[in-house]
Amino acid sequence: MELVKNLVQNFKNEFKKDTTTPTEVFFAPGRVNLIGEHIDYNGGKVFPCALDFGTYAVVTKREDKNFRMFSENFKELGTIEFSLDSLIYDKKDDWANYPKGVIKTFLDAGFKIDSGFDVLFYGNIPNGAGLSSSASIEVLTSVIIKNLFNLDVDMVEMVKLCQKTENEFIGVNCGIMDQFSIGMGKKDHAILLDCNTLNYTYAPFMLNDISIVIANTNKRRGLGESKYNERRASCDGALKDLKDAKVEINSLCDMDIQLFENVKHHIKSDEAISRVRHAVTENVRVLDAMAALKAGDINKFGELMIESHNSLRDDYEVTGFELDSLVEAALEEKGTIGSRMTGAGFGGCTVSLVKNEALEDFIAHVGKKYFEKTGLEAAFYIGNPGDGARKLGDF
Ligand code: GLA
Repeated sequence: MELVKNLVQNFKNEFKKDTTTPTEVFFAPGRVNLIGEHIDYNGGKVFPCALDFGTYAVVTKREDKNFRMFSENFKELGTIEFSLDSLIYDKKDDWANYPKGVIKTFLDAGFKIDSGFDVLFYGNIPNGAGLSSSASIEVLTSVIIKNLFNLDVDMVEMVKLCQKTENEFIGVNCGIMDQFSIGMGKKDHAILLDCNTLNYTYAPFMLNDISIVIANTNKRRGLGESKYNERRASCDGALKDLKDAKVEINSLCDMDIQLFENVKHHIKSDEAISRVRHAVTENVRVLDAMAALKAGDINKFGELMIESHNSLRDDYEVTGFELDSLVEAALEEKGTIGSRMTGAGFGGCTVSLVKNEALEDFIAHVGKKYFEKTGLEAAFYIGNPGDGARKLGDF
């Protein structure tokens, strides 16, 4: 709460508010995906959890139609201002396009937002690291506007509108996993989400003697977004080839491995066949991972994580030297149960399950080996599954 008090103080200084001005404070987590990568947009099943770190917002509603937004993470950009009447993507508004886009999407969906607000954001998710800092600020904004304007909307609907914002306003053709896990997260649990139906179940993921270790390659994603869209287009193309050949599926993950083997010759490019092989096998791995978890077989879960990484490296080709080096180094440690890239890839983070007794060695050894290989310093975080986006209170 010390952090929140400081943020409230900074908000009042930044926007020159009286010390007695009432403010509302909100929080949305980041997320880490344990298994089920690059299949949310292929109708697959994914197994992410929300984290206990994320993005905070201190807010007061305004009487007029203006928005003033300040981020502690991008102080050099100063306060970004826009009006309810001009919610247009603007490159120079940088990070503020995310909250702006969410407001626009809600308005377009018919929700009544009739004034602006002042807001200060602060996030402790490393940006561009694949832990969904952008989905976090989107879902956070939706929770802010729901509260400020008393909108009658549930979290799943908000999650969908945030994904729509990312697809249409920002232009990244993402699936629903990030926004869903950030909106619907639950402390000490991961979420098994069927991206076809949006049916979900919570699975306890508080492992007694094992930690979730997130390692950041500290390699900026660079062209990640366009490559992400390329992968997605490749899958969509393959789905079309299969449907044209009268294979009766609605999404790639409707296939099991046998069906895929039987019909793959209908897919027009070899590259797309590899992409689809990843999608199909990854979906099967998620189901196997759930069965392993139920049976208390965490080692099997770990093996499936490793297979997932290999498939993302060889068939989906979204890992790269840095992510591969981190995973390789992790797998050389005695206490490692499993390790893989997480999120979109092309840089960003890995997630590993590590025995608590081996944590210190893990961080020291993996960090050292990674530096020797790449010249980059990795950063390590312990990922504790946390609750989804919410109002923290009035301050
Ligand atoms: C990004 C996207 C998600 C998902 C992952 C890969 O995080 O936003 O929708 O596709 O990549 O699993």
